[in-house]
Amino acid sequence: MPFPAVRPRRLRRTPALRSLVRETALDPAQTILPIFVVEDPAQAGPITSLPGVSRVTAEDAAKLAAHAESRGVGGVLLFGIPRRKDDRGSSASDPAGPVQAACRAIRAAVKIPVMTDVCLCEYTAHGHCGLVKAGTVDNDATLPLLCEMAVSHAAAGAEVVAPSDMMDGRVAAIRAALDAAGFPEVAIMAYSAKSASAFYGPFREAAGSAPGFGDRRGYQMDPANFREALREIDLDVAEGADLVMVKPAGPCLDIVAAAAARSPVPVAAYQVSGEYLMIKAGAATGHLDERSCALESLLAIRRAGARVIITYYADRIAEWLEA
Ligand code: PBG
Repeated sequence: MPFPAVRPRRLRRTPALRSLVRETALDPAQTILPIFVVEDPAQAGPITSLPGVSRVTAEDAAKLAAHAESRGVGGVLLFGIPRRKDDRGSSASDPAGPVQAACRAIRAAVKIPVMTDVCLCEYTAHGHCGLVKAGTVDNDATLPLLCEMAVSHAAAGAEVVAPSDMMDGRVAAIRAALDAAGFPEVAIMAYSAKSASAFYGPFREAAGSAPGFGDRRGYQMDPANFREALREIDLDVAEGADLVMVKPAGPCLDIVAAAAARSPVPVAAYQVSGEYLMIKAGAATGHLDERSCALESLLAIRRAGARVIITYYADRIAEWLEA
């Protein structure tokens, strides 16, 4: 029964008809807002590479989380900017560190889950995500440091820890460490299929975490690989991940869709700093409409199959959907 009997435009005629048959909807309750927490208040303030995003103190992180909660946001994901960095990233597990302080302040202020990024790159002087030995990142020597960091976040009140380092075996190691430390209820959101992406550039400026030598291609995934991304997801599920993540989101929608089809656990996708900046920068020229582009980019991630979306736009979605 082809045209003229069939006319798909019939259901596009009015806003009410369109909304009646819409297949996908954005829900701020299934988004997560990243927050950059500083230890040194002198480092707080707007982030040049991420217009509209600021580095904040632990107390102000609680205010941001409360605002996000009031806008219906489903959770916050914390990144730390410590005063001290060394070769081992020792400050990552400091109970008085910025992320740990923010976990306590946020847990006292809001009900939405507090999640923390578990990775050494913001804490190491060389900027790599693990312990460097003989010029390369040593996988197995890094695992105990990640475990210690995750346990210190859990002790400070984190409800979900999110390892983003891409070391092999870290999900199982962190699960065992959390359980042994008395935190069997703390969940793991694994950055499972994380590419060595150029789109993290603005984040590294924000967090001061660019590698001092070389790049991350020896541990993050080759963006060319689809089958390997699914293998990483399967491995993390087998190791006990409670959620798996695909990152970046927009450039990896094929992987998001395949992950959603096969993963028994919820799939998250991270709309990263460079994806956000592209929309911001386009809007700043006056030639892109920020609200429409942001909502469309997030809807596409949802349509591909992501249950949870991590985005710097999380706290704007509700107001934009109401507009
Ligand atoms: C830490 C980490 C990074 C991001 C999230 N966790 C940076 C990186 O891997 O270099 C990127 C997030 C973004 O770009 O918004 N390893």
